[in-house]
Amino acid sequence: MEESSPEALIQAYSSLIGKPYMPPYWSLGFQLSRYGYNSLAKLKAAVDRTIEAKIPYDVQYADIDHFRKQLDFTYDTVNFNGLPEYIKELRTKGVRFIIILDPAINMEEQNYTTHLNGLANDIYIKWPNDQNPQFNETSDNQNPYMVGYVWPEGKTVFPDFFKQKTHEWWMKEIDNHYKNTLTFDGLWIDMNEPANFDTNKPKPWNWPPNRPEWNLKCPHNDYDDPPYVPLIATHYGKDTRISDKTLCMRGIQGDNNEFIHYDVHNLYGWSQTEPTLKALRNTLNKRSIVITRSTYPSSGTNSGHWLGDNTSIWAHLKQNIIGLLEFNLFGIPYIGADICGFFGDATPEMCTRWMQIGAFNTFYRNHNGYNGIDQDPLALGKDVADTSRKITEIRYSLLPTLYTLFYLVSQNGGTVIRSVMHEFPSDPRAMDIDRQFMWGSSLLISPVLDKNVRSVYAYFPKTRWFDFYTGKEVETTGRVHEIDAPLDHLPLHVRGGSILVTQESAVNTDLSRKNPFGLIIAPLKLDQKVKGGLYWDEGDVIDASGNSTLINFEFTPGSNRHILKVSAQEINFALLESNYLKTIRIFGVTSQIDNVTVNGVVHTKYEHDPRTYQLTIFDLRIKLDSVDSKEIIVNLK
Ligand code: GLC
Repeated sequence: MEESSPEALIQAYSSLIGKPYMPPYWSLGFQLSRYGYNSLAKLKAAVDRTIEAKIPYDVQYADIDHFRKQLDFTYDTVNFNGLPEYIKELRTKGVRFIIILDPAINMEEQNYTTHLNGLANDIYIKWPNDQNPQFNETSDNQNPYMVGYVWPEGKTVFPDFFKQKTHEWWMKEIDNHYKNTLTFDGLWIDMNEPANFDTNKPKPWNWPPNRPEWNLKCPHNDYDDPPYVPLIATHYGKDTRISDKTLCMRGIQGDNNEFIHYDVHNLYGWSQTEPTLKALRNTLNKRSIVITRSTYPSSGTNSGHWLGDNTSIWAHLKQNIIGLLEFNLFGIPYIGADICGFFGDATPEMCTRWMQIGAFNTFYRNHNGYNGIDQDPLALGKDVADTSRKITEIRYSLLPTLYTLFYLVSQNGGTVIRSVMHEFPSDPRAMDIDRQFMWGSSLLISPVLDKNVRSVYAYFPKTRWFDFYTGKEVETTGRVHEIDAPLDHLPLHVRGGSILVTQESAVNTDLSRKNPFGLIIAPLKLDQKVKGGLYWDEGDVIDASGNSTLINFEFTPGSNRHILKVSAQEINFALLESNYLKTIRIFGVTSQIDNVTVNGVVHTKYEHDPRTYQLTIFDLRIKLDSVDSKEIIVNLK
């Protein structure tokens, strides 16, 4: 990589803000969620449909509707009766479970231990002593805490994650919940901007109709009404204040009351993220994962992110790509949109196209809003399920490549998903491409982003490119090609000079991880070495160092023979005992084949396609659990 390359720049930025988080292997699988299953029966029905459709699937979510009265650390024992047992049952089927947590804590609920523990530890954001406009409004008339209203039916207070005591409280609540109630595998932390509904208006939009109007109203002062108000902070509205939809700026935070909310507002989500990951690791003793809605530079060291409440419209499907590209630049490569859209209803066609892009979001979750029709693939019809299965299987087959990319950025910083410009910075035509994107430096993804469209105009920068599916080379580059893209097809191209590591797909990653590996080799020039690698570890341990493996692949195409060398730098034998390398696809093999040998022994199982020049060597049994190097030679006629 050139020192001045965009990737080198992001690596330098990562060294400053912290290298990205290494997600567990299972979190690279497909994930299903919605707000408003409203009952275990409906959640189960979505799970059953997904399993019936044989869509590879690793994670199920429960949103705030699984809570009792939308209270954190509870579940609705009536509508979700049996949830704890069901989560355990899902785990035996290889499906993991992630639950949501909101920061706002209901202060009016009787005997709510989470809040009582919070009060006992004095963890909430406060008013300054001399300026508490809520002094007479709260139930006990002397509450020093800033009070707002979010999802629960009752006024809420907000934990201050700048306090050590808050971390301890949060850790205990998470631990208790896991040990006594639900065995989740990861946590989804939402509303942590922090969001408060309709601050400064007469009442929150969801205020109970039978209660006298009330709301959090911020006093007027230099912090709540600064002379220059950024438009973004006010939702681009007129006559708005920076506290709208959030807390008042005079809130007091920190162990020694050293911050006002104005100073640390943008760090609320950031301040909640690390303690949440620590709590998970403390309780689960696994790597686990946190997905947070609010981020700040360095949030990527502890979490992934979803792009927030989008709508099921084509414009937002397109914007998904921009979100992926930006958050990779921001050091948060584990990133994804609500696939098929949050608000509104996706049509089967839109959801099909979105599942195709989704399969190349690093965080691949179909999530839906409260009022929408079911949008898990089979709910939208057999065709959506079939196309979703097809593309999800392709994603699963590429997970070793994706996991290795995550390993590399966790070590060196940088991006997993990249713009075309990022890889071809001196190509002016690459500058404004936002309808295509790349995985690492090797795979070009050119999705359909519009209704009723069955082809894409894809740009191919000047180098060699091969069709992922057929291995056929793109004939002329440095130009746009119209590529067929029927509804069941996502155009994918492999860049000359790369090796992708694949693994046969399965219905979840517990199973796919046991399957044989494959290689896809795209050569660049005669006699020019092409390198690739596989990082492998157990997948969910906190510290995999000393318990992981790096395998190197090196391919040299020559005029008489092509040579592939497989070698391991470090090896953990147990990890790869049951796996072996089974299939190798080599693109651009234009000469006829004399024979193929593996460590000197002739291997007759191969197929050479004279139209695409793809050579497929199959039924190999090359073990990867030793440091001895292996040599596969393709002798040409
Ligand atoms: C917020 C989140 C959304 C979630 C909803 C209910 O709108 O962004 O993902 O479903 O709250 O918890």
